[in-house]
Amino acid sequence: MQAKIAGLVGLLAVAGCVENTEMPVAQDGKAIFMENCAVCHGENGKGEGSMARAMAKPPADLTLIQARHGDNFPRAKVMSIVDGYAKSDMDGPGMPEFGDLLQGDLIPFDSGDGIQTPTPRKLVALVEYLETIQQTR
Ligand code: HEC
Repeated sequence: MQAKIAGLVGLLAVAGCVENTEMPVAQDGKAIFMENCAVCHGENGKGEGSMARAMAKPPADLTLIQARHGDNFPRAKVMSIVDGYAKSDMDGPGMPEFGDLLQGDLIPFDSGDGIQTPTPRKLVALVEYLETIQQTR
């Protein structure tokens, strides 16, 4: 009986780990970035990925997003670009939409308007990561 209870407690502990309630960190976003974005934007985000040369419109240098926006990292804008929300008027092949990839687990996140909005965990992780690679001019 004792052993059975111990086993049950162990099982619950494992289940608790699977249900990830922690906020994503930049390191999580880096892994997603390397897998999905580096082929165009380059491993360092500077736009030198292997597919970059074949593109009519070059991938943006993602380390200068903040510098291009008056030293203010535009979280909401970056998120909408990545999940495809802001791309409906795009002409020609450019940056693909990642809306599907980023489905799943939602967590509350303030993208800059002071309101905690349910946001895909992976998208938050990506934005956190991109924020850490910003360079000052
Ligand atoms: C197929 C190549 C390609 C892939 C893969 C790609 N991008 Fe892009 N990305 C582009 C191109 C090209 C642009 C610039 C032109 C445009 O807006 O379409 C761009 C622009 C952006 C911008 C806007 C930068 C600015 O300052 O306006 C962000 C942010 C961005 N990409 C993030 C990402 C993230 C995050 C991923 C991975 C989830 C990703 N991209 C994957 C090609 C790509």
